[in-house]
Amino acid sequence: MSSMNKTVLITGASSGIGEATAKYFLQKGWNVAATMRSPINAGDWTKADKVICPRLDVTRPETIEIAVRETLECFGRIDVLVNNAGYALMGPLEGVTPEQLERQFQTNVFGLVSTIQTVLPILRQQGSGTIINVTSIGGRLAFPLTSCYHATKWAVEGLSESLRYELRRFNIQVKIIEPGGIKTNFINHGSAWASHPNYSDMVKHVKDFSEGLNNSLPGPEKVAKTIYKAASDRSHKLRYSPHGEVFFFMHAILPDSLWRYLVTRLMLGSNK
Ligand SMILES: NC(=O)c1ccc[n+]([C@@H]2O[C@H](COP(=O)([O-])OP(=O)(O)OC[C@H]3O[C@@H](n4cnc5c(N)ncnc54)[C@H](OP(=O)(O)O)[C@@H]3O)[C@@H](O)[C@H]2O)c1
Repeated sequence: MSSMNKTVLITGASSGIGEATAKYFLQKGWNVAATMRSPINAGDWTKADKVICPRLDVTRPETIEIAVRETLECFGRIDVLVNNAGYALMGPLEGVTPEQLERQFQTNVFGLVSTIQTVLPILRQQGSGTIINVTSIGGRLAFPLTSCYHATKWAVEGLSESLRYELRRFNIQVKIIEPGGIKTNFINHGSAWASHPNYSDMVKHVKDFSEGLNNSLPGPEKVAKTIYKAASDRSHKLRYSPHGEVFFFMHAILPDSLWRYLVTRLMLGSNK
């Protein structure tokens, strides 16, 4: 099938990686269901032909059902699902409330599972499709004061790697995108913070480090291109790491003591 008739459904397409990905698929001639929580705030680019903007909040299964139905009514099929919606709960684990933890998993894990479960029967009936899950370098590595976020992204890594065996017989591919740090709303506005008085110096360091870093990070365009490649390269490759390769390489070659020293020094400004 030519890319002119293909359809991608993306979650969290209101900003950052999701928005850049929607625009890139559009540029490549695809039909795009750029789903978001508040379509009323969607940018002018969503007025193009071949774009629809269904309302979809991954924590509300009924919105997933309706958005998928709307996409099928408009474009007739879904070839690629990009599970991109997510945010980071930051801060010391000791200060995390049950509500914060629940919301983090509802969004990054359970919402992703609900979306996959809603789209899967369609891909199976079509006899083909690709599910692309956006994790992070933080889906295989872990940094300070991000334990809950890492727990969600590591969960999605394991889920995705297992799922690919289940779905191969249906000609459905599963792919994981593990971006490194990207300049989006994510660090300054997209994250939530837990707090605890015994860790306030660490929190300050990590906040200063992340805010300082944010300005020097690359934009989301390369991630969008990588997601497009994963959607169209017809390979069985599982993991793609735009802007992340260097971290995996360093982690693999450095002794753990040196890796730990560098992360502690850089992110917490201390030796312990
Ligand atoms: N930026 C990075 O450094 C980085 C690195 C590695 C991985 N990632 C991952 O990349 C993905 C996209 O993040 P981003 O960097 O593009 O940040 P972003 O600009 O903050 O985008 C996050 C998107 O997720 C949406 N979202 C949040 N909760 C949602 C929910 N319950 N239902 C539906 N949509 C929801 C947001 O929608 P609203 O506009 O409604 O809030 C927004 O569209 C995330 O999964 C993140 O973990 C980011």
